[in-house]
Amino acid sequence: MSELGSLLTLSPVVPVVVVDTAEQGVGVAKALVAGGIKVIEMTLRTPAGLEAIRAIADEVPEIVVGAGTVTTPQRAADAAAAGSQFLVSPGLTPSLLAAMKDTGLPFLPGTATVSEVLSVLEAGITEMKFFPAEQSGGAPFLSGLVTVTPDARFCPTGGIRVNTAPDYLKLANVGCIGGTWLTPADAIAAGDWERITKLAAEAAALG
Ligand code: 3PG
Repeated sequence: MSELGSLLTLSPVVPVVVVDTAEQGVGVAKALVAGGIKVIEMTLRTPAGLEAIRAIADEVPEIVVGAGTVTTPQRAADAAAAGSQFLVSPGLTPSLLAAMKDTGLPFLPGTATVSEVLSVLEAGITEMKFFPAEQSGGAPFLSGLVTVTPDARFCPTGGIRVNTAPDYLKLANVGCIGGTWLTPADAIAAGDWERITKLAAEAAALG
């Protein structure tokens, strides 16, 4: 655990964000902060992801910025060099685990099955992402793990929306949830920061 403490307690909802430019990243980060969300997972799904992380780290220091879609050892190293404060991966391989550990940053490895949860626990990690949540069994699946893997705590993401969020947040083994619903692509493209601030405030109130 880093000075950030548990990644699962930073916010009830971690916005998973996709941008086409670094400027969009800064705009989204400011809009989220205005709505009361002080963490952002910037995905590396677009070429602008790394640059956006750099820009947010420089220009919006009040938000905790992390990298999402960390699918390769190179992405882990690049995300750390860009100023990420945490890393999130959709799944885990031995080399990705080693690379994420090497950064010294806190990270959430992705899991979707009981065996994957057991592997992550064996690696000494108790906080993990559950992805893709809705497609992998959703809240009922996670509820079934409470007694089987009591040490595992999750940030489910994938297909969760504001109306289904409470089903997850009420579970004993869920610390926070993640999703793209509060930063819609059309709002980002239009620079509609007010809409994102409203969605962020609605998400912050889930906590
Ligand atoms: C993720 O990477 O966590 C997901 O893409 C988020 O899923 P969503 O777009 O369905 O919220």
